[in-house]
Amino acid sequence: MDIANYKIGIIGGGNMGRAIIKGLTGSLSSPKITAWDADSNCRESLENDLQVTIARDNRELATDCDIIILAVKPQIITPVVTEIADLLTDNKLLISIAAGVPCERLEKPLSNRVPTIRIMPNTPALINRGISAIAAGRDAGEEHLAITQKIFSCLGETVIVPESSMDMVTAVSGSGPAYVFLVIEALLDAAVGIGMNRELARTLVIETILGSTELVKKTGKQPMELKDMVTSPGGTTIAGLAELEKNGLRQAFNAALTSACQRSQELGK
Ligand SMILES: NC(=O)c1ccc[n+]([C@@H]2O[C@H](COP(=O)([O-])OP(=O)(O)OC[C@H]3O[C@@H](n4cnc5c(N)ncnc54)[C@H](OP(=O)(O)O)[C@@H]3O)[C@@H](O)[C@H]2O)c1
Repeated sequence: MDIANYKIGIIGGGNMGRAIIKGLTGSLSSPKITAWDADSNCRESLENDLQVTIARDNRELATDCDIIILAVKPQIITPVVTEIADLLTDNKLLISIAAGVPCERLEKPLSNRVPTIRIMPNTPALINRGISAIAAGRDAGEEHLAITQKIFSCLGETVIVPESSMDMVTAVSGSGPAYVFLVIEALLDAAVGIGMNRELARTLVIETILGSTELVKKTGKQPMELKDMVTSPGGTTIAGLAELEKNGLRQAFNAALTSACQRSQELGK
């Protein structure tokens, strides 16, 4: 299966639409990409800066393309699908990256049994370091999942999940970057609080988080085991860890993920 054989249409050329286009043009030699955005300045910049073909409108894009990726805000999804519904047939693939929009909602306005796929990417996708969770709708099969994985691997890693896991995925990796940014910010402020200058603190905190994450990933060891390796009896690390436990770090993350997951369920209704 070669992505170069498919015409890919991107509806919505904002942050994520652009990241997908940049990822595809950066990883494929001559991808066939068409885009459309409601904003004329955005269309102009897509054409001039990213060298993609601009469709006359969403209907022309849906007619011409084999794979249609919806990269518009969640509240715009149903109007856009309704606008192109009669042009979508079972040999096309409809992909949505809209947070909290189930495949069922994509399928509702359709007149044909069009394969649909729902994806939850996350913001590091903007620098091709994201993780995209991919779930198949009613009529999507293995081949549709495989082509979607190929397309979204240009934004980083991909995993296939059942759609029933999407609220949990939203809480963990969709919202996850914000938790990490908060942790970085808190560590930076704490470092400044003990007298370190902010520039040095930024370098130390970022490299510590990047290096520790890579260590977990590359060694395959449990975080607990790696934590034990740096925790000597009566030392500095155990003193710091004891404060984090006493101040409820673990409970705070449990509550955060439970709450984000519930909110995702509510928004999906
Ligand atoms: N950003 C993230 O980190 C992230 C992560 C996971 C999932 N997502 C999902 O990705 C989707 C896009 O997010 P984003 O941050 O890229 O949004 P965005 O920057 O606002 O981009 C959406 C673009 O779609 C355009 N648009 C609006 N109505 C349209 C229509 N009928 N036809 C074609 N284009 C239309 C918008 O134009 P106007 O500005 O003129 O309305 C805007 O340029 C959302 O559904 C979001 O849930 C985003």
